[in-house]
Amino acid sequence: MKIALLGANGQLGHDLQIALQSYDVTPLTRNDVDVTDFARARAVLTDIGADVVLNTTAYHRVDDCETHPELAYQVNASAVLNLVRIANDLDAVLVHISTDYVFDGSAQTPYTETSEPFPLSVYANSKLAGELLIRAMSRKYFLIRSCGLYGVAGSRGKGGNFVETMIAKASRHEPIQVVNDQIVTPTYTVDLADQIVRVLPTTQYGLFHMTNEGSCTWYEFAKSIFELAAMDADLSPTTSTFYKLPAKRPQYSVLENARLKELGLNQMRHWRDALAAYLKDKSPGR
Ligand SMILES: NC(=O)c1ccc[n+]([C@@H]2O[C@H](COP(=O)([O-])OP(=O)(O)OC[C@H]3O[C@@H](n4cnc5c(N)ncnc54)[C@H](OP(=O)(O)O)[C@@H]3O)[C@@H](O)[C@H]2O)c1
Repeated sequence: MKIALLGANGQLGHDLQIALQSYDVTPLTRNDVDVTDFARARAVLTDIGADVVLNTTAYHRVDDCETHPELAYQVNASAVLNLVRIANDLDAVLVHISTDYVFDGSAQTPYTETSEPFPLSVYANSKLAGELLIRAMSRKYFLIRSCGLYGVAGSRGKGGNFVETMIAKASRHEPIQVVNDQIVTPTYTVDLADQIVRVLPTTQYGLFHMTNEGSCTWYEFAKSIFELAAMDADLSPTTSTFYKLPAKRPQYSVLENARLKELGLNQMRHWRDALAAYLKDKSPGR
């Protein structure tokens, strides 16, 4: 099985390369293929003879999307349509990553794959547009929604990841205020990558929720980071209104891995265990 991995130097892309070691993987960065360039994407993926097109690219600076909607739709929707067309022509499976932000957060119990999306921001709308194009037109696809990703490689586009931002602020002894009114499931990219690899050889195509288990607010997550890293931090809870960010976020975006559980494929651990593993994995000497 030949796998073309788009977004290879992203945090999920990095961990997928490790998780997919037993496959024939061609890692592709933005320098190799800009996914918005249809002709180039077609030429490169055809040349590889991809059986699987695994797309981890996105324009996901959520607040910047509010002021750059064209770019958001170009990368998160139009480019996805390009990949659908190319994958269909190659008879390849398309694997694409979407987001918990497709939901409005008005629920009080975890969203399943059958829950109705209602996005609140440009980013979330553009990601839902990508989802709808896949669901309408792709012949063989795994469409995977995840939440709150962090990985050892960090996201260049977002300037690292939440865990490292917290640790850096605490190391500088800065006062840290973190929102305590958005409930999520932070998800380690190693776990997401391993879960994708578990599902990939099956023909159980369609939509999947894939996050670590459990849930917490961003404040509770930050508190756990400092506990597990044994760091002192001047941490206090705040509310979303304090930061007045341009993009509206869902207050509750916990996803249930319902389909994985139905199929007996769920291997996701609790977010706190995943965080402990991350802190161990990233420490020097490993
Ligand atoms: N991060 C989260 O909290 C989160 C939550 C839920 C879902 N997701 C989804 O999960 C996926 C992976 O996220 P991640 O955190 O691993 O992101 P990431 O670390 O920022 O990686 C994204 C990769 O996409 C590449 N890219 C962006 N635009 C491109 C373009 N036009 N052409 C080619 N490559 C392009 C980036 O390249 P450069 O490094 O050159 O910019 C980067 O390597 C995304 O689809 C995202 O929407 C993320």
